[in-house]
Amino acid sequence: MKNIFLIGFMGCGKSTVASYMAQNYGMEVMEMDQLIVEREGMSIPEIFEKHGEEYFRTVETNLLIEIQSLENKVVSCGGGVVLREQNVAEMKKSGRIVLLTAKPETILERVKDDDNRPLLRGNKNVAFISGMMEKRRPKYEAAADVVIQTDGKSAEEICKEILK
Ligand code: S3P
Repeated sequence: MKNIFLIGFMGCGKSTVASYMAQNYGMEVMEMDQLIVEREGMSIPEIFEKHGEEYFRTVETNLLIEIQSLENKVVSCGGGVVLREQNVAEMKKSGRIVLLTAKPETILERVKDDDNRPLLRGNKNVAFISGMMEKRRPKYEAAADVVIQTDGKSAEEICKEILK
């Protein structure tokens, strides 16, 4: 089986869905942010502070190129992976792209106690989140092979929709 790339805004449930798929459908998870943190030896906020966002995006691109030699992985992508057009092309070479969506209120609830997302620091409110989501929406939608709305659904329901 090809790889499955989960994309979507921060806090839309990519990691939760990926680990559910791994536990119940025998796929191996690749958590992009976590792999980047391990390889770079620093946290995501530190990477942004020390090297900047462009550097981080390049590390994402290189990881997506590496993943092309793998199969049967469920890849939980960072929320901004679609910002670089090349990244979408790299994902399409080895799998299908599934976009998870959620309402800004749901996102806020999930991210509000987490300080590990530099782009939301000091901006944890519905107005900022929905503005950023709207700006990114065309890129998310253009990249997606499948779109799954997740509000009010369990990880099991979402996984079943993905596999269908
Ligand atoms: C980002 C999302 C984060 C992380 C980084 C940038 C973004 O991943 O890659 O903070 O630009 O949306 P999550 O979507 O896993 O929070």
